[in-house]
Amino acid sequence: MQIIEMEADDYDEVMGLLGGASGVVLRAVDSRKATGRFLIANMGLSFIAIEDGILAGCIMGSTDGKRGYLQHLAVHPTFRRQGLGTALVARALEAMAKRGVDKTHVFVMKSNPGAQEFWRRIGWEQREDIVLFSHIASADPNA
Ligand SMILES: CC(C)(COP(=O)(O)OP(=O)(O)OC[C@H]1O[C@@H](n2cnc3c(N)ncnc32)[C@H](O)[C@@H]1OP(=O)(O)O)[C@@H](O)C(=O)NCCC(=O)NCCS
Repeated sequence: MQIIEMEADDYDEVMGLLGGASGVVLRAVDSRKATGRFLIANMGLSFIAIEDGILAGCIMGSTDGKRGYLQHLAVHPTFRRQGLGTALVARALEAMAKRGVDKTHVFVMKSNPGAQEFWRRIGWEQREDIVLFSHIASADPNA
């Protein structure tokens, strides 16, 4: 299994994996163009895992220069429960550390208990002191 940096050309395969992963929500903002911008602005923080030429997993990371944010973690069903999700997170955190980022967040859907259990099991702290508020400028609630 090889974990390498995600590139813009990986977009179709990555979206294919994410689109088939229950618990991952894709929105208009995950367009090819916006994802390309995201990868340029956050170079070196998104990764894919490849096994025999097959996309086995992915994770996308970003930073505002202070904190880190992870999103779109998914492992192909064939490769789940073999430590790949853990390895992808570790790789992204290693990249965050190189940028001087030592606190990283992830938003997990309440409707995704399996993922919540995953983050707990790999030692992430579930925050009880924060409530998320969003400002949505678009009339489209799925923007
Ligand atoms: C969540 C996900 C990325 C985990 O990937 P993975 O490669 O299976 O994770 P790991 O093998 O590293 O799991 C580490 C530990 O987390 C826990 N865990 C992982 N998936 C779990 C699940 N679905 N339910 C409960 N616990 C889970 C287990 O304790 C596991 O260790 P074990 O297999 O020795 O018991 C994968 O299930 C997935 O792609 N799910 C669909 C997409 C998704 O929900 N993404 C997360 C969005 S925040």
